[in-house]
Amino acid sequence: MNSIKVGLCGLGTVGSGVVHLLYHHQEKIMHDTGSAIEIKGVLVSDLSKVRAGVPDGIKLTDQREDILGDDSIDLIVEVMGGVEDAYQLIKGALQKGKHVVTANKDLMAVHGAELLAIANENMCDLRYEASVAGGIPIIRSLTDGLASDKIHKVVGILNGTTNYILTKMVDEGRSFEDVLKEAQELGFAEADPTSDVDGLDAARKVVLLATLAFSMPVELEDVSVKGIRNLSSRDIDYAEQLGYTLKLVGIAARDQERVELSVQPTFIANNHPLASVKNEYNAVYVYGDAVGETMFFGPGAGQLPTATAVVSDVMDVVKNIRLGVTGQSSFLPQYEKRLKPSDEVVSKYYVRLEAKDQTGTFLEITNVFAQNEVSFDKILQLPLVSNEKAEIVMVTHRASEHQLERILNGLEQLDVVEGVSSYYRIEGEGA
Ligand SMILES: NC(=O)c1ccc[n+]([C@@H]2O[C@H](COP(=O)([O-])OP(=O)(O)OC[C@H]3O[C@@H](n4cnc5c(N)ncnc54)[C@H](OP(=O)(O)O)[C@@H]3O)[C@@H](O)[C@H]2O)c1
Repeated sequence: MNSIKVGLCGLGTVGSGVVHLLYHHQEKIMHDTGSAIEIKGVLVSDLSKVRAGVPDGIKLTDQREDILGDDSIDLIVEVMGGVEDAYQLIKGALQKGKHVVTANKDLMAVHGAELLAIANENMCDLRYEASVAGGIPIIRSLTDGLASDKIHKVVGILNGTTNYILTKMVDEGRSFEDVLKEAQELGFAEADPTSDVDGLDAARKVVLLATLAFSMPVELEDVSVKGIRNLSSRDIDYAEQLGYTLKLVGIAARDQERVELSVQPTFIANNHPLASVKNEYNAVYVYGDAVGETMFFGPGAGQLPTATAVVSDVMDVVKNIRLGVTGQSSFLPQYEKRLKPSDEVVSKYYVRLEAKDQTGTFLEITNVFAQNEVSFDKILQLPLVSNEKAEIVMVTHRASEHQLERILNGLEQLDVVEGVSSYYRIEGEGA
């Protein structure tokens, strides 16, 4: 039996998991693919590091050319992370006719379209299942399992770190800083948590999901992004009283062939399955015209869950090599990008504001909503903040972003309004 030779680039958390699976699940992998898979070389950055669990005979190098220049290597597994080095490595590998499997969302969100085109030109496969939601096979579900359907919306809890932080803030009433520190100590959060807590990591995944779900070449700059740094415990409490849970969600929605893309803290209705996704878990909720609603849930990161996605991609490529059908990926977008203008991005909203506690205040506030043709679903009865001030919380019926903007401006101009404290999108209450 001929073996397929792999160049493994990166031997950290995910790379070590890949080695583990290729050795420990060897028999099953060989049975399913009809081929042995051999790790021919491993690229790392620091050869002097002591590494446990590396099987005998695996050759380590810190020279990229040792992998790229080895003509016997059929397939590169890129699990180094970072953008520039990984980009050069993957591009070089594809141009030499080597297939690539990567877990790198930072890279794929920015250079994915170009690299997929280079892969097709060179009759190579480029797979990236692990780059979105780690161990959840969501890319495969969109491109295979749901291929016959027309997807119109994808809503996902796509970042384990922020979901962990929000779960602890909501369930235990703890502060953002306190939970972030704990998450860093437990290894769920990076020393520099910016990309997670400011929503950029989730935005990259939204780009990858939307590109596949809608077959449209969307980009990172098309995603409106808001993170979780400035959440107030008051909003978390009101969410609970109103029957919602605050989650950081990525939304990609299509309507009339136009798309909207965002990452933002969102009030999720408690009876929606996404509301019960806790701690570091991820979930992706997919709305299809034919299938209806489906949810994919699981570990969004971690050594073996992520390695499972990587090795399953490797197995797919190996099967394609054996069948002689590599380089025929249908991942390239079919439609031109068309984004929704803000008057077509529609949702229910939660709005909290402080106002003077005097006769007529309420009428003036509701007039601003009425002038913009937006009505209410719920208004919360609130205790007074002080003798002169009151806090007013409203849940609107569906309004466009444009209407909301006009309402917020209108409210700020009222003498009776001290200020709009916060507003959030609401999801999960039906159309
Ligand atoms: N960790 C997860 O749970 C997870 C989940 C989903 C996706 N991912 C993605 O998987 C990738 C790898 O993540 P990880 O957590 O495994 O990272 P990691 O633990 O930091 O490991 C990175 C590995 O790559 C090597 N490396 C880094 N830069 C290199 C370079 N320029 N040249 C050669 N070798 C280089 C490092 O070498 P040394 O060992 O010598 O330092 C290390 O072995 C990232 O793209 C990440 O976003 C990770």
